[in-house]
Amino acid sequence: MESSGGRTPALEPGGEKHCATCHGDKGKGDGAAAPFNAEKPPSLADPKLLRTLTDGEILWKITTGRKEEGEVLMPAMAEKIPAEEDRWKVVSFVRTLAAKAEGAASR
Ligand code: HEC
Repeated sequence: MESSGGRTPALEPGGEKHCATCHGDKGKGDGAAAPFNAEKPPSLADPKLLRTLTDGEILWKITTGRKEEGEVLMPAMAEKIPAEEDRWKVVSFVRTLAAKAEGAASR
């Protein structure tokens, strides 16, 4: 058992639970609803993808969702997660997914 004090506690309910249906528990894009999406949800645990996104972009995508030609690919979370502070927590959570995957792959 190793615990390094000062780590962010697990995100309290209200943030990432809205993502798992599509992006999967671990963010790998294999959520239960994934097969029904018009567009396959990308893996949020992919360090390569995450490197291309700034925190601000992730926040923006979470807030406004993703639409293509009027079709909703990913619903906007502005109502489900009304507090911007909470959406920032989701951004941090998303960052941990890729960080974990990367830690496993390299050093
Ligand atoms: C209804 C299914 C669905 C839900 C729920 C959902 N997403 Fe998505 N998400 C998608 C799809 C599909 C895309 C790809 C859309 C596109 O092509 O831009 C996407 C794209 C993204 C991207 C952008 C990746 C990129 O390539 O730029 C991020 C970041 C993201 N989602 C995070 C989240 C987070 C965090 C949540 C929860 C708060 C969430 N999503 C909830 C389906 C979903």
